Amino acid sequence: MSSEEETSENSSSSFTLPPSSSFTLPPSSSASSSSSSSSPPPASHFIGKIEDIVKARRVTKMVNGYRDILVLYHQGQLHAMDPRCYHSGGALQYGDIEEFNGRLCIVCPWHKYKITLAEGEGLYQAVEDPSAKPLITHWRSKGVKQRIHKVTEVNGNVYVTLNDSREAIESDVYQTERYRTDLLEPQPKPMAKK
Ligand code: FES
Repeated sequence: MSSEEETSENSSSSFTLPPSSSFTLPPSSSASSSSSSSSPPPASHFIGKIEDIVKARRVTKMVNGYRDILVLYHQGQLHAMDPRCYHSGGALQYGDIEEFNGRLCIVCPWHKYKITLAEGEGLYQAVEDPSAKPLITHWRSKGVKQRIHKVTEVNGNVYVTLNDSREAIESDVYQTERYRTDLLEPQPKPMAKK
């Protein structure tokens, strides 16, 4: 069995978004986690070919038979995270990627929460002094809220190594059976009445 087959045997349920018509495939990928090794990292999971992921830009896949992963390609970098937003399970694969305070974030399409691609931190704008006019705001971090996984490119193949930190991360709840069986939807769910 090849190393690719070994790492991909538990992967299934591939889902891709249609490629953007304005996107151009670069001559060579400069994915953030390319490896000089010819072997995939130990305990990693094959996600797909780099050229397919670059074209699709967002790919979701179930790995290990239990965990859904979102892999994003943005500005020459690959990122991997849990696909359902830590706030209320929003479908992050439909979110825009924007920069806030110099940090690239995916903006959840449901309620616009901002999550850093590199760390999974939730960012928010804090008011420095509520009595000051005009109000001055600063970007602050709520800490890591979304589980981020390691993504590696080896010989044109993209692999994800699951972040198996035992520390609870808020997005974990949306990997439970109750939420994983729901289809991810691009539109926001109606806000619950208080
Ligand atoms: S579900 Fe993502 S912001 Fe609410």
